[in-house]
Amino acid sequence: MIAVGSDHGGYELKQEIISYLKEKNLEYKDYGTDSKESCDYPVYAKKVANAIVNGECDRGILICGTGIGISITANKIKGIRAALCHDTFSAQATREHNDANILAMGARVVGPGLALKIVDTFLNTEFSNDERHIRRIEQIED
Ligand code: RB5
Repeated sequence: MIAVGSDHGGYELKQEIISYLKEKNLEYKDYGTDSKESCDYPVYAKKVANAIVNGECDRGILICGTGIGISITANKIKGIRAALCHDTFSAQATREHNDANILAMGARVVGPGLALKIVDTFLNTEFSNDERHIRRIEQIED
């Protein structure tokens, strides 16, 4: 199950991502926001991060204007590894090396075409399970 959330700045891109997940028959849960009306990104970052930490969802996608505020917030929650990615190389590397559980993007930074490629890469790349990467993730958790 994929948790999806955004603030007003990311609302339109979130809706495009949801259409894409539906097209691919991927299960998702939309944690809002539900319109382009101004709202506070920490609210949605916390909803998605908590859904992952409590096991309701396996991965998350968070969007705000830059992706920065929403990823900073998500990374405050223990167990969350939110990666801000605006290219497919980073999306692949963060899954393989960091076992990132949330993808963050900025809707004012990337267009929808690239954003969907990044989502696809993030969702289809497995963690390497490499001993050195496991060790480093454990150090983050400590
Ligand atoms: C909202 O205007 C904007 O600040 C927000 O979407 C995000 O970019 C914050 O980091």
